[in-house]
Amino acid sequence: MDIGTVMNTMRDPAGVPAHPVLFQGLMILTWVFHIAFVHLTMGAAALAIYAFHRRDKGEYWERLSMALTKVAKVGVSLLIVLGVAPLLFTQVIYDPQWYASNVLSGRWAIGFIFTLIIGYCCWFTFYYANHEGAKKHAGVYAWIALALFFLDGLIMHALSYQALLPDQWMNWYAPGGIVDTSGSALHAIQWPRYIFIMSLSLPAVGVFLIAYAHYFASRADREQEYQAFARALGQRLATWGFGVSLVPMLVWQFIQPSASGLMLHPVGWLLVAALAAMLVWMKRLTAATHGYLPVLGGLGVLAVLALWREVVRVAHLKPFGYDITTYTVHVDWPSTLLFFSTFVGVGGLVGGFYLTLLYRSGRVQGLYTAERSVARLGTAAVAILVIWIAVFLAYGITIWVRNSFV
Ligand code: HEM
Repeated sequence: MDIGTVMNTMRDPAGVPAHPVLFQGLMILTWVFHIAFVHLTMGAAALAIYAFHRRDKGEYWERLSMALTKVAKVGVSLLIVLGVAPLLFTQVIYDPQWYASNVLSGRWAIGFIFTLIIGYCCWFTFYYANHEGAKKHAGVYAWIALALFFLDGLIMHALSYQALLPDQWMNWYAPGGIVDTSGSALHAIQWPRYIFIMSLSLPAVGVFLIAYAHYFASRADREQEYQAFARALGQRLATWGFGVSLVPMLVWQFIQPSASGLMLHPVGWLLVAALAAMLVWMKRLTAATHGYLPVLGGLGVLAVLALWREVVRVAHLKPFGYDITTYTVHVDWPSTLLFFSTFVGVGGLVGGFYLTLLYRSGRVQGLYTAERSVARLGTAAVAILVIWIAVFLAYGITIWVRNSFV
């Protein structure tokens, strides 16, 4: 039996509840937010450590280190939460590839969770220790955490990349004909792809610092000089970062398998052009440019990257006869409706309320009193949560009663 037939047989016989392209689109979209927080966290953590070791060069470095330690602390939790959505969508349309890859490196897939927990605990230790006049040895925890986060990124990369190489699965499963069920190896790493994706952490913290300086500009209790320091540093990091990331991106582009046609694919080159455009823009950025615009530009780059990863995946799997559009569809309107209303209602409204509240309250010095519009948004968020819980329970109970008693 050829591996293409194996993959199609391994699909979930229950099928998917709506057209597969819908899940593909959602997977691309939601991954952008996951990787944005991966980049912000890694960039903020690395700069927090660098600034920690430069504290004797000035008070601003110490302040920056403490601020970025907090950013990375929150960033880890958000990258985890935001990783769940693309993980679910991958498992819906690419379940044969994702599970095969995870099983082939089972110890790493499980080790990923433990290393993430240990890394996060180390970062918290650093966070508690990183205050004015902190002892130098506190930095050790931060280094361990950063190393473990990079390892987790590498595991994620290997799991993603191994899923694209089904013709090698049998060699990994039974090298030389002898079955190896240990799952103890990371079988395939494409270094340029991994280094490129991780290198984007550098410009990410750069554009973040530009937005950070803009955000606190309205606060009288924040020194103008500190904001100017953060903005100038951000601009330098963003310029350098986009420049540096172009190198592994070009290498990745030129090592694409020649038969796949990926080397000349327009989306790959669009990504190269987007990086180059950001580099030029960041270099020429003036004080007149709104501080949030570079973040929007960065998100645009990530959207092209997310699309490019999917183009690469489709091109790798096509020769084996794997095409998501042939996935069995069993349309299930109630669950699709529940999903989208949760996405828009709970995700949009409740998430939107939290974001608005945090954004507004941080711009005010001292106690924040919610404006009328924010208070109304809060009431609407509570109402939608109550409705959501009621619908969720009613739906579940109806199905349970129907299946058990009718
Ligand atoms: C410090 C922790 C993490 C880091 C540094 C990280 C980094 C990465 C990187 C670099 C990729 C792209 C790999 C590639 O395309 O070659 C990726 C993909 C992905 N990550 Fe994470 N990640 C982390 C944690 C998580 C967690 C906790 C989840 C899930 C809850 C998650 C879900 C995903 C998913 C679903 C993908 C896409 C897989 C695919 O499309 O095949 N990640 N991550």
